[in-house]
Amino acid sequence: MDAMDATKVFIVGIAGGVGSRLARLLTVAGDRVDGLYRRSEQGERLAADGIHATHGDLTRLDAPALAGLLHDTDVLVFAAGAGGEGGAGATSAIDGAGLTTAIEAARLAGVRRLLLVSVFPEAWRDRERSDAFEHYIDVKKKADVELAATDLDWVILRPAALTDDAGTGRISLSPALIHTRIARDDVAATLAELVHAPRIRREILELTQGPDPISDAVSRQIRD
Ligand SMILES: NC(=O)c1ccc[n+]([C@@H]2O[C@H](COP(=O)([O-])OP(=O)(O)OC[C@H]3O[C@@H](n4cnc5c(N)ncnc54)[C@H](OP(=O)(O)O)[C@@H]3O)[C@@H](O)[C@H]2O)c1
Repeated sequence: MDAMDATKVFIVGIAGGVGSRLARLLTVAGDRVDGLYRRSEQGERLAADGIHATHGDLTRLDAPALAGLLHDTDVLVFAAGAGGEGGAGATSAIDGAGLTTAIEAARLAGVRRLLLVSVFPEAWRDRERSDAFEHYIDVKKKADVELAATDLDWVILRPAALTDDAGTGRISLSPALIHTRIARDDVAATLAELVHAPRIRREILELTQGPDPISDAVSRQIRD
């Protein structure tokens, strides 16, 4: 791929389990990658993998400041999350208000495509529920609703329970699936395919481990 064809992707949460895997895949594929990370050692780790990223805390950036980082961006990926740390306030600030900032920044910067890593609304209903987890599910669903109401070319990807198992390269991808598990490797590989499938837009897709090669599963979601 030459520089003219490369897609410029900005990943909010680039140092995370999914975000860092996605950044690596896109960089190897020749895309131009940037993203937001919070801690300096994360920047050093990303740089060691040849990944350029920007230091910053989403909760301390307003939309114009984030938009200022999005120059030339073709696709904004939101893979950040409080991950259960910092209580309900952090979940609201990052998974909720953080997405609001990202949507507004995309608008200000003229970025049309926004991929959101969300969650199955019925995740872990077989486990004992906690107020914090119910709040997380509530915030994530409201974030889906907010993004789906925009005129952006959004895709909401709802992975099942994430594991650090090695990816299999095979998944199930559909608007409605039973909640099971999925390796972060396979979530990242699915996002990488979606980055390069601009005809898939304004779709909510659920993602689990499954039998289909990732590129086939993604191609099957192209409707026009
Ligand atoms: N865990 C599951 O089973 C599951 C299932 C379905 C969906 N999901 C969703 O998938 C998302 C990605 O999962 P993951 O495993 O990649 O999570 P992760 O490893 O916790 O990555 C999330 C990233 O967001 C970053 N972040 C948090 N607050 C930030 C802020 N204020 N500014 C900038 N960056 C910030 C975190 O930074 P730090 O590294 O500094 O904390 C972290 O690197 C989750 O957030 C969750 O919503 C999770």
